[in-house]
Amino acid sequence: MTLDLSGRLAVVSGGAGGLGEAICLGLARAGCAVVVGYHRSEAQAHALAARLPAAALPHAALHCPVTDSAALAALAAEVGRRWGRCDILVNGAGTTRFVPHADLDALDDALIDEILATNVRGIIAAVRAFKPLLAAPRAGGGSGLVVNLSSIAAVTAMGSNVAYCASKAAVDNLTKSLARALAPAVRVLSVAPGLSDTDFVKRMDRAWRDEQAARTPLQRLALPDEVAAAVVAAATLLSFSTGAVIPVDGGRPLA
Ligand SMILES: NC(=O)c1ccc[n+]([C@@H]2O[C@H](COP(=O)([O-])OP(=O)(O)OC[C@H]3O[C@@H](n4cnc5c(N)ncnc54)[C@H](OP(=O)(O)O)[C@@H]3O)[C@@H](O)[C@H]2O)c1
Repeated sequence: MTLDLSGRLAVVSGGAGGLGEAICLGLARAGCAVVVGYHRSEAQAHALAARLPAAALPHAALHCPVTDSAALAALAAEVGRRWGRCDILVNGAGTTRFVPHADLDALDDALIDEILATNVRGIIAAVRAFKPLLAAPRAGGGSGLVVNLSSIAAVTAMGSNVAYCASKAAVDNLTKSLARALAPAVRVLSVAPGLSDTDFVKRMDRAWRDEQAARTPLQRLALPDEVAAAVVAAATLLSFSTGAVIPVDGGRPLA
């Protein structure tokens, strides 16, 4: 059992996002080299890659648009050329917008398609692109790892909109089928945060945030570092776990 990821390489899509940044930092602190995958946040991704704690292999920021399968294939080829490996793929990219669940007219097809293409198809496409590197035999043994960022919304069906909740239920389903299909070479896990204290969430209505915390048995929101800790645990301590969902939600579904 080891907490040391030195010599390993992780690719994190949505790496410059609120949770993505904490995950990149958590992996780098464990010694892992990180590719901070970005879509629009190029400058933030480069700045983050530059301030990650140094690892045995170099960090980088690279374009990782998960709805563009050709770009994902090109990214995997570049990672293969530059690092010769990919041990961990964190599917952190995700999108949504607040639409009240009862207001189906406001949930237009373009938004539904964007959510499903990013949150669901994007994961399948990223795993497809990185599968050869993830499944490649590595010195010292051990499986490759995929961590999918799911959400408490997958089980509670409470979240930013109906399509988002459905997309996260699909993520947990994908985690199971991919875990079965890719074993034993690659493990696949979901990390399912409750509402997390990111900058985006901090900008939301204070009273609403306080209400969410009050409805959570542990009486607060998730810290991004706690979500990152679950990803690092998936890559280190949880070596015999696959096809499972790791909740980081303070017990919110119990309330
Ligand atoms: N925050 C929460 O409370 C919470 C709770 C449960 C689950 N989650 C899940 O956790 C994940 C990260 O959420 P977050 O709070 O960190 O959100 P965030 O700050 O909005 O980050 C989302 C990231 O996804 C990336 N992204 C969006 N569309 C993309 C695309 N087409 N291709 C590639 N990347 C794309 C964005 O990249 P760029 O910035 O480079 O454009 C962004 O950095 C999401 O899957 C979200 O659903 C979040």
